Amino acid sequence: MKIFLDTASIKEIKKWMATGLVDGVTTNPSLISKEKGDAKKIIKEICKLVKDGDVSVEVTEKDPKKVYAQAQKIAKIAKNVVVKIPCHPDYFEVIKKLVDKKINLNITLVFSVLQGMMMCKLGVKYISPFIGRLDDVDCDGLDLVANLRQMIDEYVFLNTKIIAASIRGMRHFHEVALLGADVATVPSAVLEKAAHHPLTDKGIKKFLEDWKKLKIKIFP
Ligand code: E4P
Repeated sequence: MKIFLDTASIKEIKKWMATGLVDGVTTNPSLISKEKGDAKKIIKEICKLVKDGDVSVEVTEKDPKKVYAQAQKIAKIAKNVVVKIPCHPDYFEVIKKLVDKKINLNITLVFSVLQGMMMCKLGVKYISPFIGRLDDVDCDGLDLVANLRQMIDEYVFLNTKIIAASIRGMRHFHEVALLGADVATVPSAVLEKAAHHPLTDKGIKKFLEDWKKLKIKIFP
């Protein structure tokens, strides 16, 4: 499973890119609004830091014609930009035209199998089911990931990958890995938690304590 970082923070991206664990980044207007500085500059810098990995950048227009024009401009920011467009019928025609133009799309705010299936038919690169936001309204976000996986495998939609998004904690992260999501996009805090286990910390402490008892000065 690929891991994308769900952030627009340059600091977080630098930190995690250095570990080699992160394959891409997803941003959205809310995440960019948390950062200081010029949005376009921030996106350009993220694209450089992520090198060959995909960086999702969302449209901010509402009118379909404007979304179409803006999506093409966003796609030109860098080679690794993937344009994020909400899964709404107003944009289906736009999505088809952009796919025909070979622009990589991440269809965001996907909340049902049927929305996902329609986007697979249009041949988009990614669909992003929002797990946490479904859980917030007493539905099961993880079920949606499982059902999308089944649907995509059943009909062999080869072009479209599932990005499990709106991941709020370790359980979501762990479960989407088992359910076969192609990508999990996770906030830095969740990745941080996932990297730690108290028994690993305890084990390291014990090994070092026992080693000290040997009083060896130089090793090896
Ligand atoms: C990523 O593509 C999404 O925009 C993000 O995961 C949404 O997360 P949230 O529901 O926690 O805002």
